[in-house]
Amino acid sequence: MYDLRSDTVTKPSKEVLESALHAELGDDEYIEDPTVNNLEDECANLLGFEKGLFVSSGLMGNQISLLIHNDPGTEVITPFDSHIKNYEHGAAAFLSRVQFRDAEHVDGQLNLDNVEKLILKSKVHKPIIKTVSIENTHLASGGSIVSFDSIKSLSKIVRKHDLKLHIDGARIWHAIQEDKNMNYGHYCDSLTFCFSKALGAPIGSMLLGSEEFIREAREFRKKLGGGMRQVGVIASMARTALQSRESILEDHAKARKVYDCLIANLNNEKIESIVYKGTNMIFLNIKNDEDPNKLLNIFYNESINAGLIGEKSIRLVFHKDIVHTDIDKICDKLVHSSSKF
Ligand SMILES: Cc1ncc(COP(=O)(O)O)c(C=O)c1O
Repeated sequence: MYDLRSDTVTKPSKEVLESALHAELGDDEYIEDPTVNNLEDECANLLGFEKGLFVSSGLMGNQISLLIHNDPGTEVITPFDSHIKNYEHGAAAFLSRVQFRDAEHVDGQLNLDNVEKLILKSKVHKPIIKTVSIENTHLASGGSIVSFDSIKSLSKIVRKHDLKLHIDGARIWHAIQEDKNMNYGHYCDSLTFCFSKALGAPIGSMLLGSEEFIREAREFRKKLGGGMRQVGVIASMARTALQSRESILEDHAKARKVYDCLIANLNNEKIESIVYKGTNMIFLNIKNDEDPNKLLNIFYNESINAGLIGEKSIRLVFHKDIVHTDIDKICDKLVHSSSKF
């Protein structure tokens, strides 16, 4: 079975697993696990932040950021289809008790005029806006890269209005491997990224920010039950996985090859569009009156396990556990099964 549902399905390599055996350990609650401390420092340095905090998941990093940047009843401007708003099990309502205000966007890049208008409107009759949160890469748009220039411009507006900018960078390395911009700490107040997706670590995310922000984040992590002890066991695997980040470009190449093949060979009017946004995902958008589950079942019977995102989009995600030599076979299977839809 080729599992293309997500890059979260990647399994740790032998090298990643072995690094856990040799990790130097201490009690991270006392900030005494050298492996964790080194990883936090390395990630903060890489992305231009003062400090880092190793957290159990992307969700935890996102939600701790909202807990720090917002007060209950205040708002977060974010794309209407962002992960932090839609796919985190109502955690924001449950934890920080914030509301989200939908911002217009194209491929995750916010419309800056719209952001200014939303901020100005919040001064009368609307809850106070405290944070702007964007996603890079932007999942719901097909894993699109948000341009660094647009992040710089957004940062200017956010700072002008004394708000905070958070980046859900669950897949930030996909953007960085393509556009090479690393200095996120200069333009945003917090950023979280995941080791457990394309990088192939089994667990873990990094939350980055100022020293003061991370001091508070450590408090919230503890309150949420996320304080850990000899967690260098996990951090060592995250570090080894991070060292392989350049191989993410191979996942992009695999996705691009399949996309080119589908564009050339897939011809079924029930599939409205095939979307590829330059990273590791392809979306097959199914016509409104058609049932995408039917195509998912056909794929499954041909050993392709794909996922649904939204109501009508089938998502194919390419990752390290899908090897180059299988790409032609996967293309054939996708084209062949689509002809039966
Ligand atoms: C864009 C985005 N943000 C955040 C998360 C949350 O990460 P985690 O599953 O580690 O909580 C995900 C998970 O898939 C994601 O795709």
